[in-house]
Amino acid sequence: MSEQEYDLVVIGAGPGGYHAAIRAAQYGAKVALIEKKNLGGTCLNWGCIPTKALYASAHLIEQIKEADDFGVEIPGFKANFAKAVERKNKVVQELVGGIEALEKAWKNDIFMGYGKIVGGNAKDGFEISIQGEDNKVINGRRVIIATGSSPALIPAFNIDHEKILTSDDILHPDFKTVPERLLIIGAGVIGCEFANIFTTFGSKVIILEYLPGAIATEEPMIVKELMKKFTKKEIELHISQNVLLVESTGSGVKATTCAADVPRDQTDTAEKSTFEADLCLVSIGRAKESSNLGLEDLGIETMRGAVKVNSETLESSVQGIYAIGDVTGGIMLAHVASYEGDVAVANALSSIGGFPVNPMTTDYRIVPATIFTSPNIGSVGLRRKVAKEQGIDVLMGLYPFQSLGKAKCMGEEEGFIMILGDKQTHKIVGASCIGTEAPELIAEIALAMQHGLTVHEVAETIHSHPTISEMVLEGCEAVVGKAIHKKGRPIHH
Ligand code: NAI
Repeated sequence: MSEQEYDLVVIGAGPGGYHAAIRAAQYGAKVALIEKKNLGGTCLNWGCIPTKALYASAHLIEQIKEADDFGVEIPGFKANFAKAVERKNKVVQELVGGIEALEKAWKNDIFMGYGKIVGGNAKDGFEISIQGEDNKVINGRRVIIATGSSPALIPAFNIDHEKILTSDDILHPDFKTVPERLLIIGAGVIGCEFANIFTTFGSKVIILEYLPGAIATEEPMIVKELMKKFTKKEIELHISQNVLLVESTGSGVKATTCAADVPRDQTDTAEKSTFEADLCLVSIGRAKESSNLGLEDLGIETMRGAVKVNSETLESSVQGIYAIGDVTGGIMLAHVASYEGDVAVANALSSIGGFPVNPMTTDYRIVPATIFTSPNIGSVGLRRKVAKEQGIDVLMGLYPFQSLGKAKCMGEEEGFIMILGDKQTHKIVGASCIGTEAPELIAEIALAMQHGLTVHEVAETIHSHPTISEMVLEGCEAVVGKAIHKKGRPIHH
């Protein structure tokens, strides 16, 4: 194989692409990884990691505000957002550096530039051109497209990247401002995470949401609990708002809305409301990054910007070319992209032959999701409404953090865990949690669900005391009325 020929070329080095490149190298493949901007993609540079670093600062502020109760006096403490941003930048830099070091350790070639598939087929290989810092054409026997997504833009929202911002702008290494008033369009995951961070650093936060509630994907009881906390923090959430226009006013920003139920052709004459602030963050979802990759010329099918793939093999409509992560329009989560990287690599390399790996098919039944508001949220499996739609009768177990010794010691008494067990089999079919370490607690339930465990099997596993993990044990027991530290109904056999 010549220097410019690879078994696998991966376009995009986010958590899908960088992961796939390493996995393929572990199987002995010669791999090229192409990235147009930063290694680590959205997750490491403008998403999961920087927000969680800022969340850590915000959480510390919240803890310090209660330090007095714990016997720690911190007179005159001051929050310094610029310093929090510098710390966040350092965390990002270190992790991005780590990805580069790992790829190099696996002898993967990294090319910085815009990758485009310019021709070829599965039999002879594909040519991929790279333009940017590196300029060349390389050949790959198989290709994985892992180009991700970017913030969705609407012309009427006039995003100028100065006053009207996307999450990329607000996480830019040089963005160090805490606006007095922050207007957020969209009460989804991004909107709620930033609302929590900025309100803790002192902004007055106003959120405008089109739907009749925030974070529509989560259990209504969980969202209600979060909203209780938002109200306490004086975050203003205006639901059922159709945002018609966002504009810069010179000194600040202004959004004009009408009620969401006004028909589209009648918004001009509808009654309007206006909301003003110093800065605006638009977080209304993300658009797939699929343009200018050479897809049309090669006959790779797309749908509304998403690369269409076989949902089991992740192969596109062109044999030998696979796609993973946000660009496929599937579940937009970093850990799903990484998982899909494993599947696509297994299928790509086994289709070439000669590598120690068998084909894989996807399985999306158990996908944990997490939201880093305060309190945190974690969920996995079915929500109650979906279980009902699927005709599954469930038993619900609820267990509050305030009944848990460890949570009380930590002063983390807000929230609860909800576990859903199948009424017939008592197997866990879903769980949602709001409270401290909720995302970590959900990991145990995901493992239990992956292996088809019942609530009894989880509860019969000895959990260390005193730990937050006992929330899972008591939650599982609560499903069948057996939680020790909670008054309940009679045991369900
Ligand atoms: P999202 O889909 O979670 O929320 C967007 C919200 O904006 C929705 O509630 C929607 O109804 C609302 N909306 C849409 N258009 C609107 C309009 N014109 N006016 C008012 N409201 C409008 O999208 P988001 O928050 O931008 O996040 C993008 C993706 O990133 C999601 O798939 C999310 O799961 C992922 N993400 C995951 C995180 C995590 O795992 N912790 C953290 C942040 C993002």
